[in-house]
Parts: sequence; C-alpha cells; structure tokens
Amino acid sequence: MKILMVCLGNICRSPLAEGILRSKISKEHTVASAGTISFHEGEHPDKRSIITAREHGVDISKQKAQYFEKKFFDKFDKIFCMDVKNYQDVLSLAESEAQKNKVSMILDEAGNHGRAEVPDPYYGTQQDFENVFQMLDNACDIIAEKYQLR
Ligand code: 4NP
Repeated sequence: MKILMVCLGNICRSPLAEGILRSKISKEHTVASAGTISFHEGEHPDKRSIITAREHGVDISKQKAQYFEKKFFDKFDKIFCMDVKNYQDVLSLAESEAQKNKVSMILDEAGNHGRAEVPDPYYGTQQDFENVFQMLDNACDIIAEKYQLR
C-alpha cells in the first residue's frame, strides 16, 4: 500500500506522521508526505519535529518537504490530511470520485469523528510538538492495524 501524509508546510506535522507510520509497518509499504503550500519545498523537517521524533526513536532528519501535486492522486492509495484546511485543499484538486475517496482526515481514520484536527504546532512550543507526536503515534497504530500494514 502507498500512503501519503499531508499538512500545510510539510515541515512539522506530516513529516512526523510519515516517520511514525514508517517505523510501525513492513518495508513493502510506501509512506511519504507533502504540503499544500510550496514555501518549504526541499527543506528538512522543522528542528522541533526532528527533536521530538528522535526522543521517541524515530529519525525524520533526512526527509525533505515536497509540494502536493495532482499526480499524487495516482501515485498513492490513501491520502491522510492533518486538518480541515488541508483536507479541503487536497479535495479541491481531485478530478474523480475515485480520487476523492482516497482522501481522509487522519484522526477520522483513527476513530475520531467530527473532523478532529492535528493542530498546527508551527507557532507553538516543543510541548505542542510532543502532543502532535502522541496524537499521530496513536493514529498510526490504528492505521497500521486497520490496513494490515505491519
Ligand atoms: P505544518 O506546519 O503544516 O505542520 O508543516 C507549518 C509549517 C509552516 C507554516 C505553517 C505551518 N508556514 O506558515 O510557513
């Protein structure tokens, strides 16, 4: 299975989601991440995401930000978005029902209903990054089970 994690900048939340899920699943599966803005393209993740991941034994330091493009609808089976804005921005680029059906909010996948969001920690503290890690770690456990990715 090929899974794409999406947030706004692709430097804080979705790189964490990518690294966390990859650390839990078998190598036959692909995980990547992208942002709905191109501003940080080519950059490594935010230092605070790298530090939080490292504290939990996950290395995301070599990942690089990429911009979400329409071609990703064909390259990936599932597209998990961090917040409602990301979700709407990705959906607005979909050109078929099949493409739309690949897109969901990551916390909805993990059993939350009502459009629960992974909050943007960019203007926050290291503790906000830790909170994001915990939310994503739990969500990725559920996703790994649900789609039999282990
Ligand atoms: P992310 O966080 O979407 O979790 O990567 C952000 C990164 C950068 C910006 C906003 C959010 N920014 O405005 O540059």
